[in-house]
Amino acid sequence: MNKYLHAYASLEELSLAAGEQVIQYANEAIISRGIFRIALAGGSTPRGLYEVLSSKKYSDQTDWASWVVYFGDERFVPLTDERSNYAMAKEALLDKVSLKKGNVYMPSVHLAGPAEVAMEYEAQIRRSFVGEGSSMPRLDLILLGLGSDGHTASLFPGKAATEAVNRLVVESTPGVLPPPVDRVTFTLPFINAARHVIFLASGKDKQEAFHATYHGTALGSVQQVPAYLVRPSRGTLDWFVTKELATE
Ligand code: 6PG
Repeated sequence: MNKYLHAYASLEELSLAAGEQVIQYANEAIISRGIFRIALAGGSTPRGLYEVLSSKKYSDQTDWASWVVYFGDERFVPLTDERSNYAMAKEALLDKVSLKKGNVYMPSVHLAGPAEVAMEYEAQIRRSFVGEGSSMPRLDLILLGLGSDGHTASLFPGKAATEAVNRLVVESTPGVLPPPVDRVTFTLPFINAARHVIFLASGKDKQEAFHATYHGTALGSVQQVPAYLVRPSRGTLDWFVTKELATE
C-alpha cells in the first residue's frame, strides 16, 4: 500500500486538490478499462469536492458517461432528508453532470430494513461487475470521511459491521456520533480491495482520530479505530486534510 498525505490551508483548497486527483484517477481508469467506478463518501466534508467536480472546469475534462457511481454508506432516512448521503451527492454532483442512465447504484433505504437492503445493494454491486469474475470486485476509487471517534463510512468502533468479512455491504447499527440512525456500509475487505482510496478530513475535532489512524497511535486499541484498518492491499491511500490535522 502506498500512502500519501496532502495538507491544505483550507477546506476549499483541499477540495480543489482532491478534485484534480479524482479526475486523474478517473481518466486513468477510463483509458485503461473504459470505465471508472467510484464510491462517494457521506457526511459534510465531501460536498466541496463534489461541487468542484460538477463545476464547469471539469464538465469536459472527463467522460462522465464512463463513470459508475456507488455509495460507500447510507443512512436510513428519507432520500430527501438533509442527513441523506444520496441527497447531498445528488444536489452537489449527480444532478449536474452527464452520467449514463443506470450508472448510479444506491442502497434502497426507502424500500426495506437494513439487513435486506444491505443484501440487495450487495447484489446490485455484484451485478454491476458481471463477467469480471472476481469474488471480490475492485472499485477504482473509494472516497471516505473520518469521524472524530475514528469511524469511516458507517464502520463504527466496536461494532459488528467493522468485523464483517465475506461481504461487500452489511447493515450497521449507529455509533455514538449523530445521526443515531441505522445504516448500510461497505465492509473493510471491500474497501481494501479498491485500486485507490481517498480520505477527506478537516476540522480540529478530527485531530486525535487522524493521528490515531494515520500514525497508528491508538485511540485505545487500533481495533477501536476502524479508519486505521483501511489499508488497500493492492492500492493507494491518499489523505486530503486541512493543515490543523497534519501538525504534530
Ligand atoms: C456517514 C459518513 C461518515 C462521515 C464521517 C465524517 O454517513 O456518517 O459516511 O463516515 O464521512 O462521519 O463526516 P463529516 O464529513 O460530516 O465530518
